[in-house]
Amino acid sequence: MPYKIIEKKEIASNVCMMKIMAPDVARAAKAGQFIILRIEENSERIPLTIADFDVNEGYVTIIFQEMGKTTKQLAKMTEGDDIQDFVGPLGKESDVEKLGTVILVGGGVGIAPVYPQVKAYREAGNKVISVIGARNESLLILEDEMRDFSDELYVATDDGSKGHHGFVTDVVKNILDSGADIARIVVIGPPILMRVAANMTAPYGVETLVSLNPIMIDGTGMCGGCRVSVGNETKFACVDGPEFDGHKVDFNLLMSRLGLYRDEEAHCLENHACICKGAN
Ligand code: NAD
Ligand code: FES
Repeated sequence: MPYKIIEKKEIASNVCMMKIMAPDVARAAKAGQFIILRIEENSERIPLTIADFDVNEGYVTIIFQEMGKTTKQLAKMTEGDDIQDFVGPLGKESDVEKLGTVILVGGGVGIAPVYPQVKAYREAGNKVISVIGARNESLLILEDEMRDFSDELYVATDDGSKGHHGFVTDVVKNILDSGADIARIVVIGPPILMRVAANMTAPYGVETLVSLNPIMIDGTGMCGGCRVSVGNETKFACVDGPEFDGHKVDFNLLMSRLGLYRDEEAHCLENHACICKGAN
C-alpha cells in the first residue's frame, strides 16, 4: 500500500519536513520510536525518527537532512507523491515518567526526534528545559515548536549567530554547574555530540539517555546491522533501543560502524548525481 506525502516544506538549508498519510502508524506511534521507509520497490531502506504524529488526521511527520542518494531522492518528491513502504512504529517508546526537572538536548537535525519527547515529558508533568543547537541560525529547526512545550528554552550556535556562541553541551554544563536539581538528561544528535555530552554529565551523576542511529536494514532484530555495545553487552538498536544509557554506550564502536560503507555511499551518491545531471 503506498503512503501519500500530504505536505512538504524545506525548514532549513537541505533539511526537509514531510507529513506522510499513515493512519495505522500514527495511531500506534509513541515518542522515541522510528519508521523505516522505502521510496520504491528496489530502493534502500532508511530509518527516520518520528518527529510528530496526528492520530485524528492520520499522518506522521518526518524530518530529514539531504545527505546521501536516498535522502536526496526523497527531497525531490513532493505533495501528492507516494512512498512505497512506510513501516512502523519501530523500536521501544521512550520511558517517559514524572521525574521533576529534565533537560532535553537536540543538536542539528537531532532536534526533530527530541521534539516529541519534549511534548511527552511536559505532558507527564515534568519541568522541561530544552537546549537546541546548530552550526548557525539558518540551520536551527523547530525553535518555536520547542518553545511552546518547554518551560525554558536555550539556543546555541557554533558561530554565535543566535543564542550562546558554542555547543549545546556548554549550555548544559552551565545549568549543571548552577546546582539545578536535574533528574534526567536526554541528548539526540550527531554521535560526537552524544559522546561529548555523556562524558561531560558522567561526573555529575545525572542519568543521561541518548538515541542511537546506527546503520539499520530490516529494523526487526534479525539482520544484526544495527549492533551496538552498551555496558559491554551487544544490543540491537532497532528492537532494544534506540534509546540507551549514554554512560554505557561504546561510542567508538558506533562511530566506526557508521563509517563502514562511507566509500560505497560516496560512490552511490556520485553515480546518482551523474544520472540526475544526465536527466536534466
Ligand atoms: P551538526 O554537526 O551540525 O551538530 C549539531 C550540534 O551538535 C552543534 O551545533 C553542536 O551544538 C553539537 N555538537 C556537534 N559536535 C559537537 C561536539 N564535538 N561537542 C559538543 N557538541 C557538539 O549536526 P547535524 O549535521 O545536524 O547532524 C547530522 C548527524 O546527526 C547525522 O550524522 C545524523 O545521522 C545524526 N542524527 C542523529 C539522530 C539520532 O536519532 N541520533 C537523529 C537525527 C540526526
Ligand atoms: Fe537489523 Fe536491527 S536493523 S537487527
